[in-house]
Amino acid sequence: MAEWLRAAELCRFYRRGSHVVRAVDTVNLSLEQGEFLGIVGSSGSGKSTLLNLLAGLDTPSAGDVLVDGSPFSELSRRERSQFRSARVGMVFQSFNLLPQYSALENVALALLFSGERRRTRLRRAAEILERMELGDRADHRPADLSGGEQQRVAIARAMIKEPDILFADEPTGNLDEGNSALIADMLVDFNSKGLSVVMVSHDRELTGKLCNRVLRMDYGRLQPEEVAP
Ligand SMILES: Nc1ncnc2c1ncn2[C@@H]1O[C@H](COP(=O)(O)OP(=O)(O)OP(=O)(O)O)[C@@H](O)[C@H]1O
Ligand SMILES: [Mg+2]
Repeated sequence: MAEWLRAAELCRFYRRGSHVVRAVDTVNLSLEQGEFLGIVGSSGSGKSTLLNLLAGLDTPSAGDVLVDGSPFSELSRRERSQFRSARVGMVFQSFNLLPQYSALENVALALLFSGERRRTRLRRAAEILERMELGDRADHRPADLSGGEQQRVAIARAMIKEPDILFADEPTGNLDEGNSALIADMLVDFNSKGLSVVMVSHDRELTGKLCNRVLRMDYGRLQPEEVAP
């Protein structure tokens, strides 16, 4: 498998007065195409911060992320945003759905710059929501959805673009067993078609079932030894 995403000496520090939080501290990581990487670690260890850096949503304090050998720091704003919109799917820990739009519109919006016609975007959004067993919730706004339903909408929004890589921050954190299994099956299906996945999860059963490799973060440091999935 070919390496295509790499973190090189990646750091993200937050200054709090005289105190510095080393949220991500000198992380080196190489990700191969089609890999399913799990990241575990206690609360505050820097997992979400690392995901945001890898997805190009946050700028490192030092170090870099390389995509196909090109450092993010050398890409223009436009190239970086193109990378994000065309190749990256992101499932945030807090979902980040737009409150004024329905579930269907939230998902369809991910295709806004895809060049597809509005009608096609809405049809595809309806299809993926159906697959998430949310067909009858398509017209609900996020506030009128349960946490688990919002989570599935967020996953649909990330997957509808058919990205090359999915960053998923606790994608089953709010889901019951049945819905977790639904998401797991879907991730396996996409991964078998070549999607790379980086997933933060505390669910050992899930990481055991899905991940090729699991790494642990401690105080901003990504431990080099693999953890038993
Ligand atoms: N904007 C910020 N300003 C200052 N410190 C921050 C900021 N964002 C995160 N941090 C700190 O950085 C550290 C890493 O946070 P992060 O959200 O990455 O942890 P996490 O591993 O995802 O935790 P959890 O499992 O609870 O989601 C924490 O100590 C947090 O308090
Ligand atoms: Mg987090």
